[in-house]
Amino acid sequence: MSIKLGCSLSPQVDANSTVNLKLDYNGLALIYKSKSELMEMKHDFQDNRLQKRTLEKNQALFKACNNRQKSLKTLLDLTAGWGHDSYLLASQGLQVTMLEINPVICLLLQNSLENSRNNQDETTRCLNLINISSLQYLQSRPEKADCIYLDPMFPIHKSSAKAKKPLQFLQSLTRNIDLEQAFELSLQQAGNRVVVKRPAHAEAFNNHQPDIVYQEKTIRFDVYLSKPES
Ligand SMILES: C[S@@+](CC[C@H](N)C(=O)[O-])C[C@H]1O[C@@H](n2cnc3c(N)ncnc32)[C@H](O)[C@@H]1O
Repeated sequence: MSIKLGCSLSPQVDANSTVNLKLDYNGLALIYKSKSELMEMKHDFQDNRLQKRTLEKNQALFKACNNRQKSLKTLLDLTAGWGHDSYLLASQGLQVTMLEINPVICLLLQNSLENSRNNQDETTRCLNLINISSLQYLQSRPEKADCIYLDPMFPIHKSSAKAKKPLQFLQSLTRNIDLEQAFELSLQQAGNRVVVKRPAHAEAFNNHQPDIVYQEKTIRFDVYLSKPES
C-alpha cells in the first residue's frame, strides 16, 4: 500500500497536544500527549472484544449490510477508521475494500493487517486497505460494490461520558471530509445498497430518508436500496 503523507492534528484538540508513532519490540503504537493526558494505543484485530463481536450473528450491522439470502459479496467501506466494522463484515464472508484518508491511521491499520495475516487470520485476507479520499475513489468510477458502507465521525458531545481510547485517537487525528458528496455518489454507484451508521436519534444523513432502519440502543443503521436501472 502506498501512503500519501500530509496531515495535522484535528483542530478540536488543544494546541499543545502531540501524537507520536512508537516502534519497539512490541510493535507499532500511537502515543497521545497533552497537558493533562498521556495515552498509548496499539491496534490488534485479535482483540477479545472484537473477536467476540464476530459471533453476534444477529447484530444490526450484519442485517443492514446484507440481504436475507446473503447474496451480497462485495463491500466498499468509505470510512475505514480502525477497521472494526470492516473486520466484522469480512468475518461474515464479505470481500471488503477499506478506504481511509488519514495516513497515520492507515499506517497503524496496515501494520495490524499484516501482523494478523502472518498469524493466519483468514478474515484479514478478505480486507484490502487503500489510503485515499473516498470521494476521489468514487469519482474514479471503480468496479461496483454490492454494498457501500459509511460511518462518519459523530459530533463530540462535551457533556457525555469520555469516549473510549480508539475513538479519542480518531477524534484527535481526523474528521469527516467531503462525505456528503461521497454519499450522494454512492447512491448512484452501489450495486444493491448504501448503509450509513448514525447516532440513534440523529437526523438522516444529508437529509435522505432511508428505505430500512436497523436500530440498536445508541446507534442505528440506515439502509438505502439501489433502484433497478431503467
Ligand atoms: C468514525 S471513523 C470510522 C470507524 C470505523 N467504522 C471502525 O469500525 O473503526 C470515520 C473515519 O472516516 C475517515 N474519513 C473521513 N472522511 C473521509 C474520506 N473522505 N475518505 C476516506 N476516509 C475518510 C476518518 O479519517 C475516520 O478514520
